[in-house]
Amino acid sequence: MRDMEKNSKPWDSNLITREYFDSLLVEMRHIDAAIPSTKLELYGETFDTPIMMAALSHLDNVRENGMVEMAKGAHAANAVNWAGMGDEAELEAITATGARTIKIIKPYADNDYIFRKIEHAERCGVMAVGIDLDHAFSGNGRYDVVLGDEMRPKSLTELKEFVKSTKLPFIIKGVLSEQDAYKVLEAGVKGIVVSHHHGIMNYAVPPLYILPKIAKVINKQIPIFVDCGVVSGMDVFKALALGADAVSAGRVIMEPLRKNGSEGVKDQIIKMTEELTGVMARTCSKDLNHIDPSVIWQRNGW
Ligand SMILES: Cc1cc2nc3c(=O)[nH]c(=O)nc-3n(C[C@H](O)[C@H](O)[C@H](O)COP(=O)(O)O)c2cc1C
Repeated sequence: MRDMEKNSKPWDSNLITREYFDSLLVEMRHIDAAIPSTKLELYGETFDTPIMMAALSHLDNVRENGMVEMAKGAHAANAVNWAGMGDEAELEAITATGARTIKIIKPYADNDYIFRKIEHAERCGVMAVGIDLDHAFSGNGRYDVVLGDEMRPKSLTELKEFVKSTKLPFIIKGVLSEQDAYKVLEAGVKGIVVSHHHGIMNYAVPPLYILPKIAKVINKQIPIFVDCGVVSGMDVFKALALGADAVSAGRVIMEPLRKNGSEGVKDQIIKMTEELTGVMARTCSKDLNHIDPSVIWQRNGW
């Protein structure tokens, strides 16, 4: 039985997502095991870990130059960095750190502005670019307005135009249904983030719950990333076992960033990667391509 009684906010998607992570158990496999590799191959580049930064923004509230500090930490850990909304100067400073960065642009109503942002990201040498499509509406069903700018949902035709406008891999952040998974494939998108944007809607299905279905639709044609509530190497392992190629960690790096800047970020990534490696070793998962989904068991009647 699920622990609903203990959850005082049963609508809270972040709490539901945590419950789901904790409902997943892992069997152990020891025979023929070896020290695992956590190397990630992504868009022709190699990284030491499948743990990436989330597409955060406004980290000056956490620490001075927070976005740049985060990028330095990711670079030092040889991890993929992501950047959410922010101005041109900030993206230039982020990419100048050498961190291989994926830029996520808001779904602005003004498509020309999106095209200009894509072009600028290209000039900055980012490794991929994309849009967080789940930010089009506010909770009252009107178009969202972010820092004075109106947002809009995007059609399949518009998505195709964004994809066509750049040589970079184009990513959709905020896929949480099989229907959208089919559409992103049709649009020629080169990666998706399975996410509910840290609970942008109540009662959102936990990303890991729907991940196997989405992974079946995607059928290894493009990489699948997951975020929302990843706080440990064990969480990362469960996401990878259920079909993710890599995960993003957002809020869990904010406290280390506040305390220790880029060092804190690097240490947090390394700590979680070591936890992941520990679980991989005990499940006979020799590398990221050899994590058998059947090691995952479920409790609590989910
Ligand atoms: C401070 C903060 C700023 C964020 N800014 C953005 C953003 O600009 N663009 C975006 O796509 N997501 C943004 N997000 C959402 C994250 O990318 C991510 O989807 C979410 O935080 C879930 O991951 P987490 O549970 O590991 O934090 C932001 C999240 C936080 C906490």
